[in-house]
Amino acid sequence: LEDQARERIAAAADLSALEALRVEYLGKQGSVSALLKTLGAMAPEERQEKAPAIQALRQSVFDALAARKAEMEAAELEQRLAAETLDLSLPAPEMPKGSVHPVSQVMDELAEIFADLGFAVATGPEIEDDWHNFTALNMPESHPARAMHDTFYFPDAAPEGEPASSSAAVGQKRRMLLRTHTSPVQVRTMMSQGAPVRIIAPGRVYRSDSDATHTPMFHQIEGLMIDRGIHLGHLKWTLETFLKAFFEREDIVLRLRPSYFPFTEPSVEVDVGFAIENGRRVLGGSGDEPGHGWMELLGSGMVNRRVIEFSGLDPDEWQGFAFGVGVDRLAMLKYGMDDLRAFFDGDVRWLRHYGFSP
Ligand code: PHE
Repeated sequence: LEDQARERIAAAADLSALEALRVEYLGKQGSVSALLKTLGAMAPEERQEKAPAIQALRQSVFDALAARKAEMEAAELEQRLAAETLDLSLPAPEMPKGSVHPVSQVMDELAEIFADLGFAVATGPEIEDDWHNFTALNMPESHPARAMHDTFYFPDAAPEGEPASSSAAVGQKRRMLLRTHTSPVQVRTMMSQGAPVRIIAPGRVYRSDSDATHTPMFHQIEGLMIDRGIHLGHLKWTLETFLKAFFEREDIVLRLRPSYFPFTEPSVEVDVGFAIENGRRVLGGSGDEPGHGWMELLGSGMVNRRVIEFSGLDPDEWQGFAFGVGVDRLAMLKYGMDDLRAFFDGDVRWLRHYGFSP
């Protein structure tokens, strides 16, 4: 039986023929298995005598099967290697690669610039309450500045853990909204970490507005510095330093104009001078020179003492400046993009056009 089995196994043409032989000899109903089963019925002496031979037979068939299988696999590999040719000098197929969105890129750049000036990054919730977004920023209910924000309000809902009918839930104070600016992070940071403070707060903000220069969601970076004896000079130097670093031009010229924000006093609107080159606005130089102009860039000012008070600090001890700037705006200016809506279309061709995607 052994010789016959080994011969047939050696002659098996392929894996399925080999498998059929395995079943024939070693399978449940196989002939070698049947021999093994006869051992059970034997008297102990007889079993002792015959068992080694039957076990050896089983092992021999098993080994022959394994050896033939390895042989077939080796032959197959050999054949594949002979058939396949691999040209290592061919260029690799190009893999699609992602890239950083210009908005993220600008936020990263700003975080780096401000880190050099000692500013940490702070965050706050996009779903904000009325108090942090408006009241604590010196915009009490019915303040006219609220109307300018085109706020997305949530239908009156209870804050977590309170029944919807509770007076606190219905009260204006906890009315929830999508934050209209990053300024509530000023309040949250002063409340949570006290003074002194040196932070920037990048993030998404929302206003019900949409055209080529406005999207209902856009990005701002808030800056806040609170310490003893901070004055407008610190604000001006900080803004100049940051804008020169961001636009990578030493000739950036700023113009500070008196303005009004409820949360700063005095308030300063900051313009940047530009020149027209080849029909394009290029930042740099004074806007007062012939052929130049001023472009409004950001809002800022000395933090209103009421805001410092609302945030739990003593305004006689702590003063500071704050500014808020549109990130998308900065990206458009730096990379020469002209339609804000394209920022959020997710069209890779647009990113490629501005060199943002390979
Ligand atoms: N929060 C203001 C806005 O969104 C900008 C601003 C921030 C102005 C901080 C002054 C100080 O328009």
